[in-house]
Amino acid sequence: MASPARLYTHGVSASARADFAEDVRAGLTKHPQKELPSKYLYDEVGSALFEVITLLPEYGLSRAGARLLKRHAEEIIDRLPSPVAVAELGSGSGAKTRWILEALSRRQPVTYYPIDISRTALSRCWQELGRIDSVSIVGFERAYLDGLLNVASRRKPGERLLVLFLGSTIGNFDRAAAAKFLCEVRRILHPGDALLLATDLEKSVSDLLLAYDDPAGVTAAFNLNLLARINRELDADFDLSSFQHEARYNPEHRRVEMHLRSVRRQTAHIPGTSQDVTLASGETIWTESSHKYRCEEAARMGATAGFRCEAQWVDAEWPFAQSLFLAE
Ligand code: AVI
Repeated sequence: MASPARLYTHGVSASARADFAEDVRAGLTKHPQKELPSKYLYDEVGSALFEVITLLPEYGLSRAGARLLKRHAEEIIDRLPSPVAVAELGSGSGAKTRWILEALSRRQPVTYYPIDISRTALSRCWQELGRIDSVSIVGFERAYLDGLLNVASRRKPGERLLVLFLGSTIGNFDRAAAAKFLCEVRRILHPGDALLLATDLEKSVSDLLLAYDDPAGVTAAFNLNLLARINRELDADFDLSSFQHEARYNPEHRRVEMHLRSVRRQTAHIPGTSQDVTLASGETIWTESSHKYRCEEAARMGATAGFRCEAQWVDAEWPFAQSLFLAE
């Protein structure tokens, strides 16, 4: 029987608005390229829009990741030490994790620690995974590394950790930041602990651009919602009808970039940051990068961080990899 879920919260909300205001102020004063951090795409509206994106026929990433876990969960579990507790960075809706938890719970009772800064995401995760036999859930409403440190400090003697970083969120980090992040994860782990890392792989530019600029306009709404969020939370007056969503492929960095293009010269007022922002006609605000990997590159990045790449599984329909790393 699943035991009741617990949630450890962190006093982030008091300072969250101030952090958001400061990041918006700094990003929109950058020259020559204005920027907004992609993590702010995920307020309640943005998270709901992202869930819709994952269902779009043009956006193959989520289905590929789930297919790999569904098909290879037993094989992944067979390569893990025992007993093992599971921590997930960014629980999302938890749907993909079901395959891993079900396979693992056939071998041993499992404690599952979803870590997410969004309480809504954690509740959704409980709804999705709360009824799996022999799995107990302890959620951490924290940033990834802070949450992982807490989880690591609770491990029982002899217990290993399996860290899940699914959904290819690592692609939203610059390559240097991704490499640094893996080193930080490794530093928290012990030899023999494991990391399952999802990366979206390189594919044709036309498939990528359709995935990030779908004909139904869901990704456009997801991107524009960032300006709507600034209007809602910082009392700004961005005119959303004067911006267009743009997805571009940057071949030098092998990434898709999302931008918001101003269709006319305009000035927006942001009382929450005491700032007026003027955009020239055609100027863009860069809101997200989604880096595309090669299998050997993901393995190398893991090795540099102190992991051995135990195995990789690649989806046949949509190039996407799950890499299983063991901490050395
Ligand atoms: C969350 N992340 C992996 C998505 C991606 O594909 O980079 C975010 C996204 N942005 C636009 N569509 C989806």
